[in-house]
Amino acid sequence: MTPALTIYSCSPEETQTVGRVLGQQAQAGDIFLLTGPLGAGKTCLTQGIAWGLGVTGYTRSPTFVIMTRHQGRLTLYHLDLYRISDPLEAWDLGLDEALFGDGVCVVEWASRASDLFPPEALWVSLDYAEDEDRRSLSFSAGAADRHRTLLADLARRFPVAPKAVTP
Ligand SMILES: Nc1ncnc2c1ncn2[C@@H]1O[C@H](COP(=O)(O)OP(=O)(O)OP(=O)(O)O)[C@@H](O)[C@H]1O
Ligand SMILES: [Mg+2]
Repeated sequence: MTPALTIYSCSPEETQTVGRVLGQQAQAGDIFLLTGPLGAGKTCLTQGIAWGLGVTGYTRSPTFVIMTRHQGRLTLYHLDLYRISDPLEAWDLGLDEALFGDGVCVVEWASRASDLFPPEALWVSLDYAEDEDRRSLSFSAGAADRHRTLLADLARRFPVAPKAVTP
């Protein structure tokens, strides 16, 4: 994917703050698809999304149960596909309810089942940056118009990577 926006986070708290903005602006049916290596900050971002939705308490990675539900102003479905061996397993876990219900769906390791997701989902690719606690968060432009407003808001609030110059 060609990222529409890349921002940097310098701490777990800052990644949670990015998530909080996503959660505050989330609407019913929104889908956030998170990718990136182990420890990149996917769960950390999800915690922020949960808090932004008004979920109280700590959102841990649902690696062993694959999907957890949390109640905020909307229902948050939090999935972690790290352990699935076949994308179709995700359906058996109730993925359709999570994707096509009126909650908000966050999927860690979404690339394990990338073909299953609708085009309007917002992909967020997290990665390690130069310093130990620095992470890059690259957002794809989903098909939804609203995402453009959301990304513009993030670009105002967080350090932005310069756009790659194409020759
Ligand atoms: N800028 C940062 N953003 C997020 N996490 C950070 C940052 N700097 C350091 N960390 C640390 O990196 C770790 C991120 O862990 P987290 O569980 O969120 O990663 P993950 O991508 O969900 O990993 P997994 O693939 O195992 O689920 C935490 O220990 C956190 O404290
Ligand atoms: Mg995680």
